[in-house]
Amino acid sequence: MLVFPELNRGKCKTYLIACERTRKAAIIDPVKDNVSRYLAYLAYQQLKLDVVVDTHTHADHPTGSFLLRDLTDARLVMHRRAPVPAVTEHVEHGDVITAGDVQLRVLYTPGHTPDSISLCAGDRVYTGDVLLIGGTGRADFAGGDSGQQYDSIVLKLFALPDATLMFPAHDYRGNTSSTIGHEKRHNPRIAGRTRAQYTELMASLNFPLPDKIQEVLQPNQTAIDDDKAKFPDLAQLNRVRQLTADEVNALLAKKEPLLLLDVREPNEYSGELGHIRGSTLVPLRELAGRATELEDHKNRTVVAICRSGVRSTTAAAILEGLGFERVYNLKYGMVEWNDRRLPVER
Ligand SMILES: [Fe+2]
Repeated sequence: MLVFPELNRGKCKTYLIACERTRKAAIIDPVKDNVSRYLAYLAYQQLKLDVVVDTHTHADHPTGSFLLRDLTDARLVMHRRAPVPAVTEHVEHGDVITAGDVQLRVLYTPGHTPDSISLCAGDRVYTGDVLLIGGTGRADFAGGDSGQQYDSIVLKLFALPDATLMFPAHDYRGNTSSTIGHEKRHNPRIAGRTRAQYTELMASLNFPLPDKIQEVLQPNQTAIDDDKAKFPDLAQLNRVRQLTADEVNALLAKKEPLLLLDVREPNEYSGELGHIRGSTLVPLRELAGRATELEDHKNRTVVAICRSGVRSTTAAAILEGLGFERVYNLKYGMVEWNDRRLPVER
């Protein structure tokens, strides 16, 4: 396994590892602004990009993954709960991502976001933003959950050998790496704290929302990167009423007229997760332009549906803005619907 120095030399961290025998490479958490630099560096090192992994949906910088996937033959791998349709391969806890002889073992470490993974490779672990050097990623928006984060760090990452080198997706203090043992003993956020103490601390932090969350997070969640796309703001998104899969299933049993609006891409609609019987497909990118087709449903109950419940929350907020009165979102989307073993059509 060939490991390279971190590629950005900034606050966002992008890592490159490669197989010496096949020259196949993996890039972890690329930043859009630096894609040209990565491609030049790969060429200089005579490496072929085989796989791109985002450890989670980033809120602070546009991901470079979509562009790298489009410009090369590389696969884009993310966790099963990643909202974006651009992913070519979804993984879960225990899966192994390969690039030649390089093996990245996936740990599911939610908490910073619901789709956060860490990647173990040999003597090192890439922790995304769940565990930082001397800190932890925030857990107060985009589906974060500080209790889940505590469990991910304490039960999964701290269970790795103490000597494991640890590389986060961000660092704001000029650190480049740490070890699991060091963080276990000295990380001021979490070392020595109980779960309750940790969640209390996280709830008290009250950070401002990151700059440009509108311009960054939603394009990363949707792969819609269009200056004309007007995304709802966070207040509008937070107002969207959420229904669990079981609650939506109960509504269906009542047989009152209901619009099930699936906003995924056509290949997802007929893909592995399937769709709910009777649902209407209008991809999110077309929704604003096709809303007039849905006029008849303005006074009906509408349930917006997508893969993990993120794009559909955006869709629900757009419809509310257009005067639809009873709009709900299927919480956690078709991933959860399938996990609950509710019926699907393909
Ligand atoms: Fe993050």
